[in-house]
Amino acid sequence: MRKILIATVVGLLCVGGAANARGEGPEDVVNGRKAGMMLSGVAMGAMKAAIDAGQAPSTQRFNSCALARWAHAVPGMFPAGSGPDSGVETHARPEVWSDRAGFETRAAAYAAAADRLAELAAGDDAAAFSAQWTVVRSSCQSCHDAYKAN
Ligand code: HEC
Repeated sequence: MRKILIATVVGLLCVGGAANARGEGPEDVVNGRKAGMMLSGVAMGAMKAAIDAGQAPSTQRFNSCALARWAHAVPGMFPAGSGPDSGVETHARPEVWSDRAGFETRAAAYAAAADRLAELAAGDDAAAFSAQWTVVRSSCQSCHDAYKAN
């Protein structure tokens, strides 16, 4: 009974959050990109745990492929009008739009790094896979440093 109650409360919180945020403006794309960013963090964490546990790169095909697909989608998740002056709560800095070329360069470096990680997941070089995970991690950081408010 208690479990059911907790599940119901959590369910209501999630539904409530989504319903409040849904609207006509850029809310949907901002919510989508925040979710994608968080899920990319989940995928990165899962891959790091697998690396640390000595698992074969091939166990990470799904995670690395998902990450690569998302990485290629990132620029499109920041359309004009979805910045801090849109009235939607976002940690994207205005520079995402005022320095678009720089932002897209960071996104392209991220996508290339994630593609390489997915390629390595098709092989069996655990050391190379681990090293590339760190390259991907740096590409997240490099963009956040310049384009994400804390
Ligand atoms: C090309 C730039 C760029 C790259 C690369 C990038 N991010 Fe982000 N990230 C952003 C921006 C900008 C935001 C703020 C989005 C917003 O609040 O609308 C963000 C937000 C986030 C958030 C917070 C989401 C939320 O709910 O507020 C997380 C977590 C995150 N990123 C993780 C990652 C991880 C992990 C990677 C690499 C695997 C990564 N990001 C790569 C630009 C980037």
